Amino acid sequence: MISILPFSPEDYEDAMALWKDSPGIGLSQADSLEAITEFLERNPGLNWVAKLNKQLVGTLLCGYDGRRAYLYHLAVHPEYRRQGIGRALVERCLERLKEMRVEKAHLFVYADNQEAVAFWKATGWYPRPELIIMSFNVS
Ligand SMILES: CC(C)(COP(=O)(O)OP(=O)(O)OC[C@H]1O[C@@H](n2cnc3c(N)ncnc32)[C@H](O)[C@@H]1OP(=O)(O)O)[C@@H](O)C(=O)NCCC(=O)NCCS
Repeated sequence: MISILPFSPEDYEDAMALWKDSPGIGLSQADSLEAITEFLERNPGLNWVAKLNKQLVGTLLCGYDGRRAYLYHLAVHPEYRRQGIGRALVERCLERLKEMRVEKAHLFVYADNQEAVAFWKATGWYPRPELIIMSFNVS
């Protein structure tokens, strides 16, 4: 039986192992234990893990910046995909965003990650071809 539970700093090591095994997940300094712990503290109720007994099998991060929400690091262990776990993680996050009266959420997907694009489209998300992402290395 899969449980969807709040993402706690104690889940970090298992989550990082899953992310490192997931080519669709981009990792950076923002994924250090310290940075993730701060992110979780800033965004209560938006970050979730899926567990089968005590085994972590899925993750989702989400942050709200006061204007829009951004989802990151949705990943499900390869052995447990296509069982609705990804959908359940996103639904739990969206429930909280609705309670917070957040109007819109965004996410980033690598353009060649066709499985993820299929997942997001199947769960109601839509691409924004009129937009491009621009970044700046602040520090
Ligand atoms: C994307 C991912 C999280 C989906 O997780 P999942 O638990 O398998 O997804 P679900 O079982 O909830 O799928 C819901 C629906 O999405 C669609 N979908 C999911 N994976 C799909 C795939 N590989 N191909 C086509 N459609 C897919 C289906 O419509 C599915 O419903 P169905 O199984 O009844 O047909 C998972 O494939 C994954 O971890 N990928 C690697 C990490 C990654 O790329 N994350 C995305 C970062 S943006």
